Amino acid sequence: MTGVKIDGKEIAQSVKDRVKKAVEELKTQGVNPCLATILVGENPASATYVRNKHKACEEVGIATKDHKLDANITQNQLNEIIENLNNDNEVHGILVQLPLPEQLDEFTTTSRISPLKDVDGLTPHNAGLLAMKKAVLVACTPSGVMEMFDYHNIDLNGKNVVLINRSNLVGKPLYHLLLEKNATVITCHSRTKNLSEFCQNADIVITAVGDRNKFTLTPEMIKEGAVVIDVAISRFNEKLVGDSDYDQIIQKASFATPVPGGVGPMTVAMLLKNTITAASLSSQIGRQS
Ligand code: GUN
Repeated sequence: MTGVKIDGKEIAQSVKDRVKKAVEELKTQGVNPCLATILVGENPASATYVRNKHKACEEVGIATKDHKLDANITQNQLNEIIENLNNDNEVHGILVQLPLPEQLDEFTTTSRISPLKDVDGLTPHNAGLLAMKKAVLVACTPSGVMEMFDYHNIDLNGKNVVLINRSNLVGKPLYHLLLEKNATVITCHSRTKNLSEFCQNADIVITAVGDRNKFTLTPEMIKEGAVVIDVAISRFNEKLVGDSDYDQIIQKASFATPVPGGVGPMTVAMLLKNTITAASLSSQIGRQS
């Protein structure tokens, strides 16, 4: 059996088309959606991700403000920049690209972002709302994965889902989103014993390890007809790879995502969607006051 490719580029384009229309609508109401990005230091992968985010904003008509900061910036200096963006009425979304250099704390940094402009869904406020099924702004990669299930009508009701990731950006938000859809969710991580056994029992495996020296999801580890979502991206033997080899895994899976061209484009598309959500929120608040 050969499964169906979940084409992230195609699904991301459908999201972008909707976002583009929403941007035009917001502009007719006098709202010019704008995303501010903060990149600290010179991590080449992060620089590429931020560049791609700017390019995508441009495609759909979202304005951008680009803050490239010195790698040695202090926490106080970074906090001040975030505070200025919180108070800037022209800015609707704020994204601090992660990871940050050692002297900066991720929680301290992301917690400073106004929850109304938190397009990464990383503030305690928005993470808490998600856990309470009241989310407005949800982390982009997890909501992108959910969009992929939706696009292919993959039913989650009662399904056994194994997550191989427990991060704030991926595993934890996905746990809540999947639970809301009545899936039975097991979160695995680096200390999980007998990971293969969990995977073999799963209807859906969502993997985001990102280090082939530590982990590869092989066809032997999944059951026939499973759905495989590969969130990871890393360089291995001079190539960009996920946690699995798509060409092999698709021989056994019913659906699978390639890397690149799978989840990556969805993360960017959902960032655009969150930015227009934040812009709409700001216009609603503007009307109330
Ligand atoms: N680094 C890797 N993925 C992400 C993401 O979705 N948001 C931010 N801010 N940083 C990241």
